[in-house]
Parts: sequence; C-alpha cells; structure tokens
Amino acid sequence: MTTSTSTPDPAASVTQAASITPAGTLAAVSPRTAPAVAMLRLLGGFQLSQALYVVARAGVCDRLADGPRPVAELAGATGLRPELLRRLVRTLAGEDVFAYDAGRDTVALGRLGHTLCGEGEDSLRDVALMWMDTHYRPFARLWSTVHDGVPAADREYGEPFFDWLAREPERVSGFSAAMASLMRTVRRDALDGVDLSGVRRLVDIGGADGTALASLARRYPDLRGTVFDLPHVVAEAPALLAREGVADRVDTEGGDFFAAVPAGADAYLACFILHDWSDERCGRILDAVRAASAPGARLFLVETVFGEGAAPEVAALLDLTMMAMLDGRERTRADWAALLGDNGFRLDGITQTTSPMCVIAATRR
Ligand SMILES: C[S@@+](CC[C@H](N)C(=O)[O-])C[C@H]1O[C@@H](n2cnc3c(N)ncnc32)[C@H](O)[C@@H]1O
Repeated sequence: MTTSTSTPDPAASVTQAASITPAGTLAAVSPRTAPAVAMLRLLGGFQLSQALYVVARAGVCDRLADGPRPVAELAGATGLRPELLRRLVRTLAGEDVFAYDAGRDTVALGRLGHTLCGEGEDSLRDVALMWMDTHYRPFARLWSTVHDGVPAADREYGEPFFDWLAREPERVSGFSAAMASLMRTVRRDALDGVDLSGVRRLVDIGGADGTALASLARRYPDLRGTVFDLPHVVAEAPALLAREGVADRVDTEGGDFFAAVPAGADAYLACFILHDWSDERCGRILDAVRAASAPGARLFLVETVFGEGAAPEVAALLDLTMMAMLDGRERTRADWAALLGDNGFRLDGITQTTSPMCVIAATRR
C-alpha cells in the first residue's frame, strides 16, 4: 500500500528534502539510558551480529516455532553446547529474540524470534547468513575506505564484490535468497508503488532470481517481461518463474547491464540496483536503457530516498553497506533528480510506500 502520491513538480521539493537529516538510530536506547551505556550497546553491535548469525545458522528459532523447549533439548537438536547456548539465549532475550525462563531453563521465541526462522513471511534468516558470510569481514576495513575511497570489500577480497561473489554458486544462491527475503519482508510493499497500467513488456534489470518480476506479473495478468541479470545469477530464475506460474509470460536473459540490456520493452525496472553504483556507473546503466528503448519508455527505480520514506534508519544503514561493499550510495531526492536528468530521463514523481523504499518513476526523453 502506498502512503503518498507522486510529486507533481519533483524539482520543487529538492531543496527541502536534501536538508532533512535522517534520524534513525540502530539500537533501541531510551532517552534515560546513560550515554556511555547507550554507546557501549552500539559498540557491541558486532558481537550481537555474530550471536544472531550463530542462532540463525544453527536453526535455533525454527526449533522453537511450535513452542518453548528446554535449553538442553534445544542444544541436543542443534549441536550447540548447552551452557553456551544458554548464555546466547540469555543475551538475545534482552534483545527480544528469545524469552528465557530461568526457573524451568526453557526458551521460547521472543517478539523478533520468528524473523530468524527459515520459513515464514517475515524471515530474514537468509540475510543473517549472507551478511555475516560476505559483509562482516569487509567492514573491518572501513577505516581504509574512508581515507582512500576504495570499497572495503575490494580490499578484503582482492576484487570487486560482484566478481568475487560470482566465483561460488552457493554464494550466488545465498545472495539472491537474501535479496528475495528482503523483497518479501522489509521491501514487501515497495512494489505496490510500481504502477504498470498500460505497460505491455517490462525488463527487470538486475532482476536476480525473478522474485520481483514474478510478483508484478501475478498482479498484471497481461504483462510480459524479461528478468535480466548476470548469466550465473539469472540461471536460477526459470525455476522460480515456473513455480510462480508466470514462465509462459516472463523469460530470462543473461548479460552485463553496463554493456547492454534487452531491447524493445516499453518499461524498465531497476529495483535496488542504482544504489550499488557511483553516478558515473549509473550513467552507463542508464545509457544502456536509453540505447535499448524508445523515447517515452518508462523507468521505475525502487530505491530509498535519503531522509524520506518509512524507517529512514534503513537508508542510513544501507548507505554504510554501499560504502563498504560497492562504490554506490543512498541518494536524496535532489540526487535522483540530477542523476536521471543528466542521463536523458525526466523524473515524473517519487511515490513513498509503507516500506522504507520509494518508487522513482521516470520517462526516457
Ligand atoms: C542488490 S541486488 C538486487 C537484486 C534484485 N533486483 C532485488 O531487488 O532484490 C543487485 C543485482 O544486480 C546484479 N548485477 C550486478 N552487476 C551486474 C551487471 N554488471 N549486469 C547485470 N546484473 C548485475 C546482481 O547479480 C544482483 O542480482
């Protein structure tokens, strides 16, 4: 569901939007928490991340889906040492992941616990696994990045992130699964803001395993489309499209969006793509869309707009991700207007959704 409508004159709100400071905090500290204690919580974020990863990877939450269990039994089922699992549970109970009953020595899911289950519409288990597997170590090199601008992941892995990722099929699947779970959870309502009335053929640029295009094809029964991504990534899409019952209308194509994208569609979607890249590299992707399309073709970007939309702390967090992992960034309304305008697109409007994402609609000049 969308919460506000397109901006009639995108340029008019540029100055105002650019001056908004995102106010999100990453930890739930109350104003009464002593500053040093609040800071210690923030500084300890890396420990909590790893504790959550252990719990997710061991499938602890899945085994609590049917109700509380004794710690010893849970330890036996997950292969973790009971005395150490108990300590993890106690710490994470303070974060609302678990509820721990010390008298009975039993553990139950807390308010957030179900989000680390493997199944379910709120599952972020694949994000927990992917972030700690691929993003955690590069972040230890953020110091160098802020001095020389080289993404920490390039330094950690000796090559750009997507090149490194391509090397192992399991990692590729893990990354696409994490993106798909973000689409089903934190970005769930973002696609509601993509109005495809009158669109006949949509190309999803960087469409990964096809989750987004399958969802749109189900909403628009006459829509045809192509999921476009790197060949080894898009190889997973046909199975998903078949499962979702849209394989007769949605095909797949592998390629490099810096070189060319499928031609002849009347609309293009880039969901969570341009934020990965610098203005210069976004210009190359937009050039490819221009070369593939006719004047009047529609472009829909699903992205955060810095300082706007629901949950601004998500944009702030993603901005750090872009800094460490790639050469992109989250952008303000003014940044989006300039990027599109400089590359031959007219910004038609920005639709806020109930998710942290906005839909930025543009038309090829
Ligand atoms: C952040 S993910 C977004 C995936 C999906 N659109 C979503 O919203 O979940 C970025 C995607 O861009 C793809 N990608 C990266 N470099 C690419 C390139 N040069 N050509 C085509 N796709 C690329 C990745 O494989 C990945 O699927």
